[in-house]
Amino acid sequence: MSDYKTLMLSDRAEDIETAAELLRNGEVVAIPTETVYGLAADAMNEHAVEKIFEAKGRPSDNPLIVHISDIKMLSQLVSEIPANALRCAEKFWPGPLTMVMPKGDKVPSVTSGGLETVGVRFPSHKTAQKIISACGRPLAAPSANISGSPSPTTAKHVLDDMNERIPAIVDGGDCDVGVESTVICFEGEAIRLLRPGFVSVQQLREITENVIIDKGVLESIGEAERAKSPGMKYKHYSPKAQVYIIKGDTESIDKYFSAYAEDGDIAVLSGDQEISCDIPVIHYGSSSEEQAHRLFSVLRRCDELSAVRVFVQCPDTEGVGLAVYNRLLRAAAFRIIEL
Ligand code: TXA
Ligand code: MG
Repeated sequence: MSDYKTLMLSDRAEDIETAAELLRNGEVVAIPTETVYGLAADAMNEHAVEKIFEAKGRPSDNPLIVHISDIKMLSQLVSEIPANALRCAEKFWPGPLTMVMPKGDKVPSVTSGGLETVGVRFPSHKTAQKIISACGRPLAAPSANISGSPSPTTAKHVLDDMNERIPAIVDGGDCDVGVESTVICFEGEAIRLLRPGFVSVQQLREITENVIIDKGVLESIGEAERAKSPGMKYKHYSPKAQVYIIKGDTESIDKYFSAYAEDGDIAVLSGDQEISCDIPVIHYGSSSEEQAHRLFSVLRRCDELSAVRVFVQCPDTEGVGLAVYNRLLRAAAFRIIEL
């Protein structure tokens, strides 16, 4: 691993040009998007893409999402555009939706993690669009965290994980959405949801009634099973503490925690509910949108509090709430306490 002096760039024109030049030269640059920060490199340059896997410590069979800034860039990436993909592009792009389609020949196999398909996204973040356009190439970008830890939603989070591992970070402020994009693939007339995000199942049903929620969204995918979305089989989004999801009403939760009042090493993440006990309670928002926006920062905060165990109140699973629940299930390695 090279020891870079990591530059913090702004979203001003001259800094965007510096980022684009680094990217054209096959380097890795962290960029803001509306979902989370991405660790970007030229998607068509094998060596550049290898550097992403190295910086992130990511298993090489986990494919990357390719980002475009113009729908015209799509044809060089895919060999076929399903009819439902065109409808989704019209409705949700630019925005937090990744569509998995048959891969075009020019996309290196390292970018698609060896798969014959490729995930493509047209982000709505203006800085991301400017960087892709200035660079003139589609950019492969996973979330800009060290593999396994919570995705970064601020430039500071990226610096915490990537300092000296990459040459530059473009600071575009806090990410609006806060959880990664919705990932879908197409099976005839059906849309299969591989990873929930801000574009919800309800919204996808406006394209077709036939939306299948993949097993991996709510269940643990074992090593032996072939995950449709390889990212789902890995441990994810984890702070250092052990996370538990807790299901129950306020009264049973209060009672449960009173037993822990003497322990100094636990923290509770609650939506907006007051919990009457003497342990640190972090509120992560009353609406699903707010919870999505804050989820990864509060998981990172748990580490700052040096909590050993973190109990998270189970969120609502409607709309973007399904994405919050999906990330929490993985952060908690599927440990659920039912009161
Ligand atoms: O919002 C996002 O999607 C962010 C920003 C930076 O755009 N990116 C992101 O990338 O979350 P990453 O690599 O952390 O997650 C990509 C997910 C993984 O679970 C991966 O397995 C899945 O998308 N994926 C990518 N290409 C795929 C493919 N060809 N087939 C199935 N799943 C794919
Ligand atoms: Mg990720």
